[in-house]
Amino acid sequence: MRTQVGIIGAGPAGLLLSHLLHLRGVSSVVLERRSRAYVEGRVRAGVLEQGTVETLVEAGVGERLRREGLPHHGIELRYGGRGHRIAFEELVPGRTITVYGQQEVVKDLIAARLEAGGDVRFEVEDVALHDLDGEPYLTFGGERLACDVIAGCDGFHGVSRLSVPEGVLTFHERDYPFAWLGVLARVAPSSDELIYSRTERGFALHSMRTPEISRFYLQVPPDATAGEWPDERVWAELKARLETVPGFTLATGEILEKAVTPMRGFVTEPMQYGRLYLAGDAAHIVPPTGAKGLNLAVADVRVLTEALDRFFSTGSADLLDGYSAACLRRVWRAQHFSWWMTTLLHTFDSDDAYGRRLQLSYLDYVTSSRAAATTLAENYVGLP
Ligand code: FAD
Ligand code: DHB
Repeated sequence: MRTQVGIIGAGPAGLLLSHLLHLRGVSSVVLERRSRAYVEGRVRAGVLEQGTVETLVEAGVGERLRREGLPHHGIELRYGGRGHRIAFEELVPGRTITVYGQQEVVKDLIAARLEAGGDVRFEVEDVALHDLDGEPYLTFGGERLACDVIAGCDGFHGVSRLSVPEGVLTFHERDYPFAWLGVLARVAPSSDELIYSRTERGFALHSMRTPEISRFYLQVPPDATAGEWPDERVWAELKARLETVPGFTLATGEILEKAVTPMRGFVTEPMQYGRLYLAGDAAHIVPPTGAKGLNLAVADVRVLTEALDRFFSTGSADLLDGYSAACLRRVWRAQHFSWWMTTLLHTFDSDDAYGRRLQLSYLDYVTSSRAAATTLAENYVGLP
């Protein structure tokens, strides 16, 4: 078996890359360890930057996103008993974000790949990468797939990054002393816009998926488990952290899903080795406070598609050689923004009263200075 691009992982990065390459006439095979039902049901991110939406629409997978996605023109920062709106329409005119679940993006991409006759294989076992700096090939479940190029889109826990000889790549890492408990609930959102709430009890985020489904996150200890958070405790804590301004009541309902996500920043440099190119979470992860993970994956894939198109249509590897450098600028900007949003809004056990006053002072600055609010807004909606 032979293909031009062997893609490991059917998350947003792998599926979108496969589809964009198909539109350029480049063949690929996607190998995914999990079942289709599993990847389509995995609840994760929900905020799409404008550039991400444009990429999906241009790729022909934006029809349902356009219909069902919820455009947002601002977010609220809530602290000290008040809500403060960061108004995108005023600070970054014409730019918005769209709330649309990552699992819906994945469903749309899988449907588009299959409709176009794409080769996406689920429940593939023991994927291994070989001869990355020579004539690369993949093995899995007793089969062998020769590839001109391999794209490692297999997320943070994948095999691709680990297949590079030791000492070639540098890993930069920061762990945070807390995690997020993500909660999906069947209840109409209690707010039209996302609320990022900083309290002495910890951070809480009110987001949404549809007019009937809400999405919440709670800052929890790093070793917390979903089992320690029965539904009544989740609602009590969400109320304590969100009902902090006059007149706001949080509506409650049936909890559909609960999961704990560790908070970590991680960057691989460079994002390539021989004929292996890493994209998305396989190369880097961010703490989710800035909602950048999925958007970075899409940005990598845009760059990689251009580079591969040029390679296969002209034989020139110049863009492929520059792939990592072209991505890392945006990756590090997003690392900084995600770190900044995280430190602005979470409580750190190590913080003394002085540290907490500094944090509140910075929040006051961000919500009162147009320049500081614009910094937040332009990073949140996505830099070009
Ligand atoms: P993934 O979506 O991880 O896809 C990788 C795929 O590779 C998976 O389907 C996996 O099953 C497959 N795979 C792994 N190993 C192998 C293997 N050996 N062989 C074959 N296939 C393999 N971002 C936000 O912005 N906001 C959030 O709220 C948020 N919440 C998150 C919650 C969790 C639990 C996680 C893990 C991430 C979250 N993120 C969030 C980040 C965001 O979801 C990711 O940045 C995004 O999924 C990256 O897409 P990807 O395609 O690079 O990787
Ligand atoms: C969502 C996730 C985020 O990480 C974020 O910052 C905002 C919203 C969400 O899943 O809706």
